[in-house]
Amino acid sequence: MISSIRSAAGSYLAPFVQRTFLVPNDGRIAQIARRAFSTGWDNDRVQINPLLLKQLKETGKTMESYGKLSSECYGVWFPENQEYEDAALYRKYIQKSSQPALEVGCGDGRLLIPYVAEGLQVEGVDLSPYMIENCRKRAEKRGLSVTLHEQAMQNLDLPQKYGTIYIPYGSFMLVSDPKESQEAVRRFFSHLAPGGHLMVSLFIPTEHDIHVAAPKQDEWRLRREGQLPNGNVVRVWEKPFFDLKQQLECAEYRYDILSNGKVIGTEFERLTLRWYSQPQFAELLKRSGFSAIECFKGHSEEAAKSDESEFTFVAKKQ
Ligand SMILES: C[S@@+](CC[C@H](N)C(=O)[O-])C[C@H]1O[C@@H](n2cnc3c(N)ncnc32)[C@H](O)[C@@H]1O
Repeated sequence: MISSIRSAAGSYLAPFVQRTFLVPNDGRIAQIARRAFSTGWDNDRVQINPLLLKQLKETGKTMESYGKLSSECYGVWFPENQEYEDAALYRKYIQKSSQPALEVGCGDGRLLIPYVAEGLQVEGVDLSPYMIENCRKRAEKRGLSVTLHEQAMQNLDLPQKYGTIYIPYGSFMLVSDPKESQEAVRRFFSHLAPGGHLMVSLFIPTEHDIHVAAPKQDEWRLRREGQLPNGNVVRVWEKPFFDLKQQLECAEYRYDILSNGKVIGTEFERLTLRWYSQPQFAELLKRSGFSAIECFKGHSEEAAKSDESEFTFVAKKQ
């Protein structure tokens, strides 16, 4: 069965969370807030949730990129043993290039584990220790050995060169600082073997996402609901905010865990996603030395039209 990643996730955005609030003390809050506002957050509309501040003061930690619960939920939104609609395109490039390949933002191995099971050599890198741990567990369950690295893509520093570096599911957009995203692309270039390909999936929020689906300020909208392996129910609520000028989506997520209809735990997360027009992203690639740049519609091999909302860039290191 081919599963659509859009329908499996309920939304592209629901599982995306960023390590925005892994901060040790109040001084850093101001620093993070300044950075958030300087990248386009509207002070009146996007505020640090008081609950988060409380949690931050008590524990020194409020949110993490793909924290424990959201990483666990990822496996609920994306069950194993499915052929997802984006799998074929990356597989084709991995097979025709030198191996190993590297999946950046590999998560819990939705794509990586089936590729390794097929005999392809694919390593993974991810910022979230929880995602890495879940990926390892999933691999072990299938008797597979996987090579995983815990690193941020903007600091990528591995001893190996790769024939293909691929970043599925819009994960590149989670690096919202333009300097860091340029640095990430530069590092992808230096980690590719000559003749290797970089593949980056991107999307642009649709008019519907921005004007229809977004709830009013400060309202939580139910994003999705699922059942955890222990039988508890998880409900994900969100508050998205779109800054069209800066091309940023900033959203807060609240994960409620329910047992017998009662909320027994809550986890908050926040994400920032930067989107790119096709010419903007092509420019980013060129600036890092890439050539033979192609842009495909969705995960097909059909050239993307200029108004496509989901596309995949493939670029070559000559
Ligand atoms: C939407 S999930 C995609 C997971 C997997 N690639 C898939 O397609 O199912 C995004 C992943 O990117 C990771 N991530 C977020 N920011 C990152 C960064 N700066 N560097 C590396 N990984 C990051 C998250 O921890 C998460 O596992």
